[in-house]
Amino acid sequence: KENQPFYGEHQAGIITPQPAAALVVVFDVLAKDKHELTRLFKLLTTRISFLTKGGKVPDVDPKLPPLDSGVLGPEVFPDNLTVTISVGASLFDQRFGLADKKPAHLIEMVRFPNDQLNLDECHGDLSIQICSNTAETNIHALRDIIKHTPDLLAVKWKIDGFLPPHTLAKMGEESVINLLGFKDGTANPNAQDNKLMDELVWVGTQSGEPAWTVGGSYQVVRIIRNLVEQWDRTPLQEQEKIFGRHKHSGAPLGKKNEHDDPDYASDSDGSRIDFKSHIRLANPRTAETRKNLILRRGFNYSRGISKSGQLDMGLLFVCYQANLTNGFLTVQARLNGEPLEEYIRPVGGGYFFSLPGVKDEKEFLGQALL
Ligand code: HEM
Repeated sequence: KENQPFYGEHQAGIITPQPAAALVVVFDVLAKDKHELTRLFKLLTTRISFLTKGGKVPDVDPKLPPLDSGVLGPEVFPDNLTVTISVGASLFDQRFGLADKKPAHLIEMVRFPNDQLNLDECHGDLSIQICSNTAETNIHALRDIIKHTPDLLAVKWKIDGFLPPHTLAKMGEESVINLLGFKDGTANPNAQDNKLMDELVWVGTQSGEPAWTVGGSYQVVRIIRNLVEQWDRTPLQEQEKIFGRHKHSGAPLGKKNEHDDPDYASDSDGSRIDFKSHIRLANPRTAETRKNLILRRGFNYSRGISKSGQLDMGLLFVCYQANLTNGFLTVQARLNGEPLEEYIRPVGGGYFFSLPGVKDEKEFLGQALL
C-alpha cells in the first residue's frame, strides 16, 4: 500500500505527487576512489529499493545492534516514500576521474544579489531528497542510509520540509499554501503530462549532454527564509501586488479563478498585474520564455528562531529542469530585484544532477556514470 515504485526510467520523487513530509540532506562523499564510489552507489540502490518497498527486518542476536532503528516498528512499510539521489559539481573533481562526465550545465551554486548564504548550508557532493507521508518515515530512511555508509558519506547539512495535508488531499484541484499565505504551485507545468516532462524536466538524447545523463534532471535546492513578522504587517493590497495574484482564491489579479490565464496581452501597461510582480517576472508567458519553464516541488519549513528572536521559517524551494541554465538560472535572474525580495532571504542550497532511474534489479544507481 502507498508504494512508489523504485525501478523505472527516471528516479521517483521528481514528478511524483508531493506527500506531506520532506527532507533534503547533503553529504560530503568520503569514498576515496571510483571503486569505493561504486560500492556507495550499489549500497544506496539496495537500501532504497528495500526502504521504498518495505518488509520485515530479521531479528539478530541481542548482543548486537538491531539491524533497523525500529522507528517504524518491526516491519518497515513504504508510506509513499521516495528517495532521490543527485550529485553536485564537486563530485566531478579529480577524486574519481569523472571530470569528463560532468553534466554540461552543472556548476556550484552561484550567489544572487539578495542571497545571504550561510556556507554551512551550501553545496555538497551528493544530495538525497527524501519524501513520504510522515517525518518519521523520512527519518527512518535517513538513519538507515547513514548507518550503512559510515565510511562512505558524511552529513554536511540537512533541512526538513512539510506541506499542509488538508490541501494535499485535493492535489490537482487545489494548490498547497505557503507560509506567506499564498497558494503555491498553481501555474506549475502538469507533471502527469509525459510529453511535457520530456521537454522540460528530463535530459533527452538530443541535449548535447554526456550520454549517461539521459533520463536524469537538474535539481535546484534553495533554503529561502520568509521574513514573516514583516509580511504579516504588510497590507493585503501590497501582498497581492507583489505576487500578482489574489491571496485567497489564487486567481491572477483581476480574474476570478485560480487557474484563469493572467492574460498579459490585455494588460500591456502592467496596471492590473505589475511588471515587477513575482508571477509576471517568473514567467512572462511569451513564446521565447517557454524554454525557461521549471517544475517546482517545494515544501514549507520552520526551525526555531534567529539570533535576533525572529521566526526562522520559509520555503524549501526545490525545482527540476532539463537544462539548469535555461531553467532556474534564467528565471532567478529575471526575479533579481523583485519587490518580494524585501520579505525573503535565500540562505542556503545547492545545484545537483538527479541521476537517471534504475531500470531493474540488475542495475544500480549511477551505473552509466561509473
Ligand atoms: C509562482 C511564491 C521563490 C519561480 C509563484 C506563486 C507564488 C510563489 C505564491 C504563484 C502561484 C504559482 O503559480 O505557484 C514564492 C515564494 C518564494 C518563491 C514565497 C520564495 C520564498 C521562487 C523562486 C523561483 C520561483 C526562487 C525560481 C527562480 C516561480 C515560477 C512561478 C512562481 C516559475 C510560476 C509563474 C507562472 O507561471 O505564472 N511563486 N516563490 N519562485 N514562482 Fe515562486
